[in-house]
Amino acid sequence: MHSSARRLLVRAQYLPLALAAVYALILLVFTVPAVQDEFVFLQRLRLPLAAKYDNPEHYGLAPYKTRNLRIETPDGEVLGLWHILPQSVYIAQDPFPPSMRPRDSFFDKAFGSRPTILYFHGNAATRAASHRVRTYIEMSSRLDVNVIAVDYRGFGDSTGTPSQQGLVIDARTVWDWVQARVERASIKPADQQIMLVGHSLGTGVASALAAELADGGLHPRAIALIAPFTSIPDLLSSLWLFGIIPLLTPLKAIPGAIDYFKTHVVQRFNSSEALSRTTSPMLLLHSFDDPIIPHYHSVNLFQQLNSPNGTQLESSIRDFSYPGWGRVTYAEVADREVVFWEGESGGHNSLGHSEGTMDLMAWIGKL
Ligand SMILES: *[C@@H]1O[C@H](CO)[C@@H](O)[C@H](O)[C@H]1NC(C)=O
Ligand SMILES: *[C@@H]1O[C@H](CO)[C@@H](O)[C@H](O)[C@H]1NC(C)=O
Repeated sequence: MHSSARRLLVRAQYLPLALAAVYALILLVFTVPAVQDEFVFLQRLRLPLAAKYDNPEHYGLAPYKTRNLRIETPDGEVLGLWHILPQSVYIAQDPFPPSMRPRDSFFDKAFGSRPTILYFHGNAATRAASHRVRTYIEMSSRLDVNVIAVDYRGFGDSTGTPSQQGLVIDARTVWDWVQARVERASIKPADQQIMLVGHSLGTGVASALAAELADGGLHPRAIALIAPFTSIPDLLSSLWLFGIIPLLTPLKAIPGAIDYFKTHVVQRFNSSEALSRTTSPMLLLHSFDDPIIPHYHSVNLFQQLNSPNGTQLESSIRDFSYPGWGRVTYAEVADREVVFWEGESGGHNSLGHSEGTMDLMAWIGKL
C-alpha cells in the first residue's frame, strides 16, 4: 500500500473518537443554563427586523383595527402589545373604513362587547411575525373577539431578559390589565370573558398562567393550546438539533443519563402539572407532521387530562375522522370539556389559523 494511503487509514481510526468528543462537548455546552435559555427562548431572532409596531397595518391588519400599547409589569419591565378589535365592533364605525385610529376609550369599550383572546406566542420572532398576524386576523374576524398579542420581556420591543418566571409575570400582567377593562365595560364575570390561546412555547406560558389563576379562584372561558408540550425537559430529551442531530438519543445507552440531563434543564414549563390545576374547557391542536414538537406530547397531555387523579375517569368520548384534515376527539371529564384535534398536515406553524381549527376554538370558547 502507498504510504500516504496508510497514514490516512491510521487517522481514520480516530474519527469515531473525534465525533464522540464533539458530541460530549455539545452536551456539556448544553448543560450551561445561559446556553439553554438562548435555545429555549431564541428571543434574539427579532423578526421581522426593525418592525413597525406602531403600524400593524404594515403586516396585514386592516387600517385602524389595532392599537399598539406599552404596559408595565410589577417588576418594572415594559411590554409591547397589540389590541385588535373584534370584527363586529370594527365594521360598525361610521365612516367606514375609519378615517383615523379610534380613541383608547373606544378600544376599551370593545372589551365589554365581545370576549377577548389573550394570545401567547412561541419562541423566536415577535408579535409581528407573519404566521402570528394571520392568526390574529382569523381570530378577530372569524371568531369576532378582541385579540391581545404581547411580546414577552426580551422579545420584540419589550424590555428585559426572558425566563419562565418572567414570562408568567408578563402573562399575568396582561391578564390583570384586560380583566380590569372588562370589569369596567361589562357586568359579566370578567374571567369568563377571557380565553387563553398559546402556541408552542406560549402553551407553557398559558398553562402556567391558568394554574396561577385557578389558585386564585379565576377560571378563563377556555384554553386552547396549539402544538403544546408536556414540559421543556421532556421536549429537550426528544429534540433533534438543527433537525439532524438526535441530541440525547445516544444517551439512552447509559442508564440514568437522560434523567440526569433532564434535572439540569433550567426552564421547566411543566404544563402537565399546571393543567391538572385548571378546570377550564380545553382544546389541544397538534399535527402529526409537527417537525419541532412531536405529536405524542399532545397525546400524553390528553391522556393526563382524561385521568386527573392518575386513574382513567368515567368519561364520554366521541371521535370523528375527516379524510385529508384529521381526527377530532371530544371528551367530557368530570364536567370539563376536552377536545383534541390531530391534524394530517399543518406542521408547527400553520395549524393555528386554518378554518377548521378556528371553528374548534369557537366551539370550545362558545364564541
Ligand atoms: C411535572 O410535574 C409532574 C407532576 O408533579 C411530575 O410527575 C413530573 O416529573 C414533572 N416533570 C418535570 C419535567 O419536572
Ligand atoms: C381528585 O382528587 C381530589 C382529592 O382526592 C378530589 O378532591 C378531586 O375531586 C379529584 N378530582 C377528580 C376530577 O376526580
